[in-house]
Amino acid sequence: MSPAAPSLLLCSLLLAVATLVAAARRHGCPTKCGDVDVPYPFGIGAGCFRSKGFEISCVNNGTTAVLPSATHHAIPVTSLSVAPQPEAKVMLPVAYRCYNSTGGTVSLFDGHVDVNTHGVYRISDARNAFVVLGCNTGAYTSNSISNGTGRYNYQYYMGCFTYCSSAGSAMDGRCASVGCCRVDIAPGLTDNVVSFEDWPHDSMDYSPCDIAFLVDKDSYDFRASDLRMDVERASMPVWLDWAIRDEESALTCAAARNSTRYACVSANSECVDSANVPGYFCRCKQGFEGNPYEDNGCTNVDECTRPEVYPCYGICKDTEGTYHCKCPSGYMTTNGGDPKKQQCIRKFPLQARLALGICSGFLFLAVAMLFTLIVCHKRRMNQLFQRNGGSVLEKVDNIRIFTKEELKKITKNNSHILGKGGSGYVYKGTLEDSTMVAVKASIEVSEALKEDFTNEVIIQSQMIHKNIIKLLGCCLEVDVPMLVYEFASNGNLYDVLHGKANRHLPLSLDLRLDIATESAEGLKYMHSSTNHTIRHGDVKSANILLDGNFMPKISDFGTSKLLGRDEDFTMFVVASMGYIDPVFHQTGLLTRKSDVYSFGVVLLELICRKPTIYDEHCSLIIEFHRVLVKNNSGRAMFDKDISVTEEDVFVLDEIGKLAVECLNEKVEDRPDMKEVAEQLLMLRRARKYGEWNCRSPHHFEYKNQT
Ligand SMILES: *[C@@H]1O[C@H](CO)[C@@H](O)[C@H](O)[C@H]1NC(C)=O
Ligand SMILES: *[C@@H]1O[C@H](CO)[C@@H](O)[C@H](O)[C@H]1NC(C)=O
Ligand SMILES: *[C@@H]1O[C@H](CO)[C@@H](O)[C@H](O)[C@H]1NC(C)=O
Ligand SMILES: *[C@@H]1O[C@H](CO)[C@@H](O)[C@H](O)[C@H]1NC(C)=O
Repeated sequence: MSPAAPSLLLCSLLLAVATLVAAARRHGCPTKCGDVDVPYPFGIGAGCFRSKGFEISCVNNGTTAVLPSATHHAIPVTSLSVAPQPEAKVMLPVAYRCYNSTGGTVSLFDGHVDVNTHGVYRISDARNAFVVLGCNTGAYTSNSISNGTGRYNYQYYMGCFTYCSSAGSAMDGRCASVGCCRVDIAPGLTDNVVSFEDWPHDSMDYSPCDIAFLVDKDSYDFRASDLRMDVERASMPVWLDWAIRDEESALTCAAARNSTRYACVSANSECVDSANVPGYFCRCKQGFEGNPYEDNGCTNVDECTRPEVYPCYGICKDTEGTYHCKCPSGYMTTNGGDPKKQQCIRKFPLQARLALGICSGFLFLAVAMLFTLIVCHKRRMNQLFQRNGGSVLEKVDNIRIFTKEELKKITKNNSHILGKGGSGYVYKGTLEDSTMVAVKASIEVSEALKEDFTNEVIIQSQMIHKNIIKLLGCCLEVDVPMLVYEFASNGNLYDVLHGKANRHLPLSLDLRLDIATESAEGLKYMHSSTNHTIRHGDVKSANILLDGNFMPKISDFGTSKLLGRDEDFTMFVVASMGYIDPVFHQTGLLTRKSDVYSFGVVLLELICRKPTIYDEHCSLIIEFHRVLVKNNSGRAMFDKDISVTEEDVFVLDEIGKLAVECLNEKVEDRPDMKEVAEQLLMLRRARKYGEWNCRSPHHFEYKNQT
């Protein structure tokens, strides 16, 4: 440590203490007097102002701020400001010279007030004017004692003349040398001393005084009545500039910066040379605001909160002393201009934006169209679903409602065709649990048929019997509802009996008897339903399906009845040629006995293994009848494969006779399905257990019952 160091340290310590004391004392100083803010360097009370020139007194019990003045009554202050300009507004008395009726001077005041004992203030030339009122008056203010270079005692003389030819010539609002005149003033005025010309004023009671004053340019508006104002009490607002002009040594900024009394103490403050005679003032640097004469008085301005003053067309970010403004990403100003002054626009050139716009337009259209398609599709599906009775069927327990999609999956997109039914193809399908199903088109369901269709579907779903093909579900979201049935792997009886592929399939008598019996059981179950409308309507070997164990399953009922209701369909569509009950043919009335008739034909097919029309034009029914009448036995017609023993022939004859009874032209002579089934069941039991009595009376018995 150098020997000078301790004293230097002491110095700075003292300085710091002094500053602290000053700051502390300023801290308790009043900042306001009445309505007037009193910012430092101004102050009220000892230690509160920078120097004597900045002292403000607060009088009238603390309501009025005044500049202390040695020469005259105190000068009221109405405003003190540090920024943006160092200014003060004071009320100054007017100068006057008043006359009696003979023109003798009765009172005189030259307007002199000592506003500037300490060199702080200057009269603002920019904001004040010199005004003279009177009707035969010339007045001027002289100022600044000459330094000896000029002709007269003062450096400045400024004034004007005003004259009125009569009492009424002065006009309100016109300060044009009739009752009122005004002039701008020179810079550097420190004081105001008015001289009046010594011109005649006798008999001018409308203008008893010559009056002159300095006044805020913007606030004085001449009134003719001002010619008679109460001059002793009148005062006018005057703007004063102020600057730091410490006593005799008014410094420039350059010199002041070295001074210990340098006024601009705040960080981020700067010094400005006064435009009006020597001296300087302080202001906060750009981007800061507050009082530069106080420690840390200048604080950062958050420009972004004042866009009206600090515009930014992009994203505004405040920083210490300034703010940044940049365009959002993807935006820029034209020609790289400043976003504080220019709007930000998209970076893309017009063409690119156009292209992008068009592209996104198309994309939007595409999406919209796709959406519309989907919605339409959904709506169409729903319409079909409703049209096909979906809302009713949904509630039926043992029917599963498949969606179009599910069905597609189940049938592997209709890839495996099982056959062709009355109303379209039948497809093979596999459910999720590997159950095989047959999917079959129903009929087109019109609004009129909707109820019938749903009813039929419900009835079918309730037909639960081992010899009736089971309806598992349906799909309604298509034009023609699709029905899903249990799958019978051996196809239909017609194909099994007469199909070329099955020509050599051995079908024993027992198996045929089983098929006949079980089929009859299925039809019996159907006919025994409490619902009297139920009849098959299209019993034929092609509608008897055989499962893997040759268990017969009656299929394709119900919906065929619906077909019959539509007048467009001819009779033979309802029941198939060769199986039609001739009574139904005549009356058009489909009864259960019609099913019995058709079943009789099936029995003949079973025992003869011949289709209803064989060898081109032979009718199975007619031929069998002929043979039976002729030989009292159908033996000649029986399938040779199964008519081996006498017993076989006997059984076959029993079946044949039963068939012929079913084919009776008289409806009431036909047995019903219950009797047919019982007869077949007895035949089967007798054959199985060998309780064979060649004179079986059974079917003659029931013949008497009907
Ligand atoms: C001045 O103010 C004090 C209290 O603020 C009050 O008691 C007193 O009467 C006031 N005097 C005048 C002259 O208004
Ligand atoms: C007017 O004033 C003058 C000078 O002051 C005086 O001599 C004169 O007598 C006064 N006249 C009247 C009418 O008072
Ligand atoms: C007197 O003041 C004038 C202008 O204000 C200046 O130009 C001149 O140098 C001064 N003369 C003296 C002797 O100070
Ligand atoms: C201010 O002080 C520095 C040294 O402290 C000096 O070099 C410089 O000349 C001074 N400037 C003025 C204007 O006095």
